[in-house]
Amino acid sequence: MATTISMSMVLTTRVMSASQPSAFSSSSISQQPAGVPAPSLPLRAIPGSYGWPVLGPISDRLNYFWFQGPESFFKKRIDKYKSTVFRTNVPPSFPFFVNVNPNVVALLDVASFSHLFDMDIVEKKNVLVGDFMPSIKFTGDTRVCAYLDTSEPSHAKIKGFALDILKRSSRVWVDEMAKNLDTMWDTIEAAVAKGSSASYFLPLQKFLFRFLCKSIVGADPSTSPQIFDSGHINLDKWLAFMVLPVTYISALQPLTGIFAHSWAYPFALVRGDYTKLYKFVEKEGKEAVERGEAEFGLSREEAIHNLIFILGFNAFGGFTIFLPTLVNAVASDTTGLQERLRKEVREKLQSGGGSEQRLSFESVKQMELVKSVVYETLRLNPPVPLQYARARKDFQLKSHDSLFQIKKGELLCGYQKLVMRDPKVFDEPEKFDPNRFMNRPELLNYLYWSNGPQTGSPSESNKQCAAKDYVALTACLFVAYMFQRYDSVTGNSSSITALQKAAA
Ligand code: HEM
Repeated sequence: MATTISMSMVLTTRVMSASQPSAFSSSSISQQPAGVPAPSLPLRAIPGSYGWPVLGPISDRLNYFWFQGPESFFKKRIDKYKSTVFRTNVPPSFPFFVNVNPNVVALLDVASFSHLFDMDIVEKKNVLVGDFMPSIKFTGDTRVCAYLDTSEPSHAKIKGFALDILKRSSRVWVDEMAKNLDTMWDTIEAAVAKGSSASYFLPLQKFLFRFLCKSIVGADPSTSPQIFDSGHINLDKWLAFMVLPVTYISALQPLTGIFAHSWAYPFALVRGDYTKLYKFVEKEGKEAVERGEAEFGLSREEAIHNLIFILGFNAFGGFTIFLPTLVNAVASDTTGLQERLRKEVREKLQSGGGSEQRLSFESVKQMELVKSVVYETLRLNPPVPLQYARARKDFQLKSHDSLFQIKKGELLCGYQKLVMRDPKVFDEPEKFDPNRFMNRPELLNYLYWSNGPQTGSPSESNKQCAAKDYVALTACLFVAYMFQRYDSVTGNSSSITALQKAAA
């Protein structure tokens, strides 16, 4: 593609200094031809403004949550400023968030967004959801991994702990997942048999909670009837009150915009839910907690609060958003995609022979179409749409066509939903193309859902999602399970309307 050549020129110099060189170095797309100097780009003042004090942030907040919604909020400003980099305010803001500074520099193309991964020039202290930070009472008065910058010694310890948990969990991951998927699809099947449509939100959440507890924390929810039945609801409430001030809800506007987003919520509202989860992890996840203490030098409390955050916020929260978009992409398709998926899944499972007929990480790695569908869903619906980082020092930021001077301390805000539709990298960027990533491994250099490229590696010195590979493989297993069990699945992002079982 012609555009990728100019893309490579823009990215190469920037990428070479990044702390994740492997992320881009293997790709033909991003290699500057030897001896060809990168073209010099014009230095441009960052367009846009923060408006009048108080009024500017309020007006931007109303546009973001109410009149426009996030996607059109950012799109309209790209058109207005003829730039993918500009100044704006993002919520939350005045009147009740007096200590939150809503001013950001928005980064809305692949080239500028990639600066968010360069830990030499940006820091990620307390900016998980922007300048607003939910009270640390929600995390047991502990700043958990996601709030820590790589310069803080505890980041390396906790990230190491998270990576270790995942490595150990790989022994039970697929079996626990398959066992709980059996229950989930049995429930959905029974509901579809009774009526014409079955909402799958609750069965999905129960599946996620039980499978992730066992895999990540090593804790069996069936040891506690209360946690088994309502652990997912405890997590939902805790998550909702933590992030409501910055979460876009399209329904019931302007009421949600005005009332739900005007203040931070006190931890007291979910203290009971959190305490139940804490006690459960402390008792049933004892082995993981003790490893956190003995091998990673964490205090007992630090290990437990981080385990709850990883389980609840990162894993359960992430998959709760992601999997319905994946079900929708597959179950609402009318182009023959299901037939192709079914064929690939069954062929690959059979060709494995012996025990490989069972689903495994290895078997789904062979399924090129399944992987491409998963990547394409992550591209069009990145589950964590906003990423933030603060400039560690003054530096020049590159978009595709300009340079911009960034000052130390400025908050950078990338909106992935638009970045992942960058027309300079992705042909027909708005279209769901299930084949897009087949035989195009270089495109994975620009798939950023995990706060880093899909070709990168999460480590103690970066802020990429610890489970970058597990998330993609788990989604592949989810799709493969569907087509092992069913010939066809009809539905959307909230309900299943018809199921045709595979012939025995
Ligand atoms: C669909 C599911 C998931 C999505 C979409 C997701 C996405 C992300 C994103 C975007 C970040 C970076 C946040 C930021 O700093 O801006 C992140 C960080 C993180 N994720 Fe995930 N994640 C998912 C599942 C998981 C799972 C299963 C784990 C389990 C171990 C996990 C562990 C972490 C950790 C520990 C971090 C913090 C990394 C650091 O501070 O260096 N995530 N995740």
